[in-house]
Amino acid sequence: MNEPRPTLDLEHLGFDRGAQVLLARATRALAPGALLEVCGSAPALGVELAAWARANGHAARPLTDRRWTLEIGRSAGARRAGAERAGLPEEPASRAPQCWGLAARGALVEAGGPEFGFRLCEREELWTADEATLYRQALAAQWDPERAIPWSAPLEHSDELEDALVEVLTFLIENETAALLVPARFAGQTHPHFRETLQLLAIQAADEARHIEVFTRRATLRGRALGLSTVGGRASLKSLVDEPDFARAALLTSVLGEGTFTNLLGFLHAHAPDRCTAEIMRLAAQDEARHVAFAMSHLAHHAQADATLLARLASAVHQRHAALLATSGLSVEVFDALIALAGGSYQPRAIERGHAAVVELLAQMDAGRRMRLRKLGFDARQAEQLSELHTRNFM
Ligand SMILES: [Fe+2]
Ligand SMILES: [Fe+2]
Repeated sequence: MNEPRPTLDLEHLGFDRGAQVLLARATRALAPGALLEVCGSAPALGVELAAWARANGHAARPLTDRRWTLEIGRSAGARRAGAERAGLPEEPASRAPQCWGLAARGALVEAGGPEFGFRLCEREELWTADEATLYRQALAAQWDPERAIPWSAPLEHSDELEDALVEVLTFLIENETAALLVPARFAGQTHPHFRETLQLLAIQAADEARHIEVFTRRATLRGRALGLSTVGGRASLKSLVDEPDFARAALLTSVLGEGTFTNLLGFLHAHAPDRCTAEIMRLAAQDEARHVAFAMSHLAHHAQADATLLARLASAVHQRHAALLATSGLSVEVFDALIALAGGSYQPRAIERGHAAVVELLAQMDAGRRMRLRKLGFDARQAEQLSELHTRNFM
């Protein structure tokens, strides 16, 4: 025997007095394709009901002048955006369909609508369970340049040493700009279903925006002109900005580039000529360590799921090295400025000390790169070779 068809009696209620509240309540409980009988005596109810049904994706058909059937259409084919596991409605799907668009993870997504064009939509490539924690850590570690940096600390060193610092800061600003553009570009290609990845890329770009700000502000603090932007530096950074593959970009920009920068910033913190510069370098190095950790986490995870990843990453280093072979790498000006800063003056003995410190810095950078490459799964010989092929520009 057929089940009695559900019926909603609106009595005298019209749409001017809230009939739509009862209709929404009654239809919410019904599956797509179900029929609801609606009756009522309000004048013009039939016309208003037809319009309401159309606006809500249902179909209304008259039975008599006081009675209609409503076929439920809205939400037909709707799907939860995410793997539907008991208790874990927010677990991301392994592949996010383009039609989910910007829907919140866990939302009930109506069928149909526009196809979006997010190039990065595979969980394996993008997402790890660590990311929520990494994002919370990044949020908690945000700092306000105005309050965190002692901008009015005395600057007592020579103009010559200030010029050396400004040379290095000019180089840093240019490199930070690449470090901002790379995550910002991938953020625009990331399916928002992988919310934590998007949030991490966004906060990383915000960190880099802050680094650009503080390096620029410090570079101009004593009114000196900015230093040099070299062809070699720009060629190195262009190869990062142009890299279309998320994993390859993570290796080149973050694991190798930002990893090398953590050593550089630590060196500048130790040899800063003033307190303001020292604090800027300390805070920027902390941020960079997080950027490296994010890339390490998702590359390690991705390498476990995809046995071909390490070979693809190695070829990215080789290809970049080959493309940059004809360029000079790090400018002589920056190299000499690092020596002067570490020496603390242009006296021969100071320069000798500074030179030894820079040689030691290069060794630390190499050791850091090899250690991270080993953690990703490269053997010692591969790690040594890939570290050796990393750009002379540091980033
Ligand atoms: Fe940075
Ligand atoms: Fe960074």
